[in-house]
Amino acid sequence: MTKVEVTPNVYWVGAIDWAIRDFHGYVTPRGSTYNNYLIMDDEPALVDAVHGEHVDESIKNIRAITGMRTIKHVIVNHIEPDHAGGLYRMVHMCGKPKVYITRKGLEGLERMFDISAWDIQVVKTGDEVKTGRKTLMFLETPMLHWPDSMMTYVKEDKLLISQDAFGQHIATTQRFDDELLTCTSVSELDDAVWDYYANILMPFGSLIKSKLAEVAKLGLEIKIIAPDHGVIWRQNPGKVLGMYSDIAEGKCDERVSIIYDTMWHSTEKMIEPIAKGIKAEGMDCKVVKLRATPTSTCVKEFWRSRGTLIGSPTLNNTLFPPVGDFLVNIKGLRPKGRIVSAFGSYGWGGGAVKDILKQCTEMKLEVVEPGVQVKYRATAEEEEQCFEFGRQFAIKTREYHKTF
Ligand code: FEO
Repeated sequence: MTKVEVTPNVYWVGAIDWAIRDFHGYVTPRGSTYNNYLIMDDEPALVDAVHGEHVDESIKNIRAITGMRTIKHVIVNHIEPDHAGGLYRMVHMCGKPKVYITRKGLEGLERMFDISAWDIQVVKTGDEVKTGRKTLMFLETPMLHWPDSMMTYVKEDKLLISQDAFGQHIATTQRFDDELLTCTSVSELDDAVWDYYANILMPFGSLIKSKLAEVAKLGLEIKIIAPDHGVIWRQNPGKVLGMYSDIAEGKCDERVSIIYDTMWHSTEKMIEPIAKGIKAEGMDCKVVKLRATPTSTCVKEFWRSRGTLIGSPTLNNTLFPPVGDFLVNIKGLRPKGRIVSAFGSYGWGGGAVKDILKQCTEMKLEVVEPGVQVKYRATAEEEEQCFEFGRQFAIKTREYHKTF
């Protein structure tokens, strides 16, 4: 079996999940990987376990390098089950390793497994452990994205094992960014980073900014970033660091997304003149129908665009339920720095447009009122109004974008 060496004597020993398409509700069309790492030294160390359903694959990868019982240290960077599901079995196969974990991690792990017999050391930022020639330093990253989260830095290799951060949900035979880019476009890899960030890390933008500043203050030079999902950044770790920094600063594309649903196509028919109005201002526009698109993709398109127009018919004096679901999703991600407005159709009493604008105001988004709505079907005159609505929204989006 081919061993995957990340830096001298540090190996990827993870598992590839080719089949996963629903990651706790987040659609993963490219599958995913659960990465963990084996540090071969005088006292071998294992960083992270994998998903419980894939633990056999990781154990096989480890055994191709060393016996499980040679492992003397197990580092638990994160206790979410996609990384700790296989932990109990792995620790017991190792014999009596020292297990390193944050205080919050320990509190959570005690509720998952009986770990009363484990040899556990609680660690905090700056703590180090020597495995022989290598030194592992721990960096707590609470709420990135769970309270327990931390990263492990291998000092001699300038290798940051970054846990969920900097990951992507991509199942591939390629383990490194440079390998993947021989068969995938840069834009597809960028899209995977955006998709992951938008759905998992977006609420924690300010924490990411302060954590990146803390890493800089600690003077840690980073040559390779090895996340727990997707490819390892060995050719260009600066790229993903830059992307994270930009996204956390509120940067996104100067474009408009139209995110909508429709009952009898009346709301849908408003899109063509609106999109033409946006295009007349020279702005890119992406149209996404909610029930035809995975929620996680809709969320990503919302985040990548500075402006979003949300379209909904009125049903029972309020929103069409798929549009309501979408708003609940983005509310939980605590959006900032986005400009929105609304459009829609109604039969005998409106409500949807007003409710969208109200919810977006409560989320403290930049809201352009009053939106636009039509009774039954848009007349030729109302189509002109839709065109102008799109054009004016593009102008406002451009002005707002300049403030970032
Ligand atoms: Fe990939 Fe938070 O687990």
